[in-house]
Amino acid sequence: MEIVETPEEARTVGEGTRGLVPTMGYLHEGHLSLFEEARRQCDVVVVSLFVNPLQFDEPADLERYPRDLDRDAELARDAGVDVLFAPPVEVMYPEDPLTTVRVRQVAETMEGEHRPGHFEGVATVVAKLFAALRPDRAFFGRKDHQQLIVIRRMHQDLSFPGEVVGCPTIREPDGLALSSRNVFIPDREAALSISRGLESAAEAVEAGERAAVALTEIVRRRLALDTVDYVTLASQHDARSLDRLDRPAFLAVAGRVGDVRLIDNLPIDLVGEMFVPDLGIRLDRPSLLYSR
Ligand code: PAJ
Repeated sequence: MEIVETPEEARTVGEGTRGLVPTMGYLHEGHLSLFEEARRQCDVVVVSLFVNPLQFDEPADLERYPRDLDRDAELARDAGVDVLFAPPVEVMYPEDPLTTVRVRQVAETMEGEHRPGHFEGVATVVAKLFAALRPDRAFFGRKDHQQLIVIRRMHQDLSFPGEVVGCPTIREPDGLALSSRNVFIPDREAALSISRGLESAAEAVEAGERAAVALTEIVRRRLALDTVDYVTLASQHDARSLDRLDRPAFLAVAGRVGDVRLIDNLPIDLVGEMFVPDLGIRLDRPSLLYSR
């Protein structure tokens, strides 16, 4: 695996179809599952590792974001990644950008309401990565479902070539969705109330419940968070909230345990005639986040 700091170097490694997996590092099995999918679909796998200052709405969150390039390089190498593109801030932003990408509507609900400027930072850096690295396919997790919708829309609106591929959420054996921020969680039981709430809602969907108020109430009753930002049933197409489960949707939760902000969601798709909740994939042992 090559570790490079400029897009020019990243573009010259390897031949054939190129898969890109954008990350902010402190890798876990969620990231690794994207690398594996890219490996399956593409000849060359490029992983970008860049903690993008533009998308942090809280300076303290940026300051303490976990970083460990040596650890990440070892994990990426073991996962069969060909190129690790880890640019310094000056390569991505030689000057304060005067041009940014603002996606309307789909980026204005839920996370957009609670984290002003966040999706503008995400869309801008992902557009820059697409332009600089020119992937044939780019892989994103459904853990950040609204982010995936925003990126799909940006990709379409700006006529980027290639394809955006969405991949399932990877969870701890107990159901907690993997996130680089999990190492800071002060109360695991409280954090687990999110996935448990979503599991209860999944059971209700399977039993035939279709009303958004009923589904969000089932989740809220189980939540043991310090603050709840939202519990929303939203459309997979445009991230607008729904009254009823009558199209591909996701039930999204955001809130805080102590000062750690967590998000998770339950995608619910029509499969044949039935709405089927997707609980993601559970690891069979605790994540390497806590051991490496
Ligand atoms: P980051 O949080 O590092 O996540 C990188 C990719 O991993 C995203 O596509 C995210 O959805 C996916 N991911 C995170 N946790 C996951 C899990 N438990 N299961 C499956 N996939 C998971 O998301 C970002 O970085 C940034 O916003 C980025 C897109 C890199 C732009 O800066």
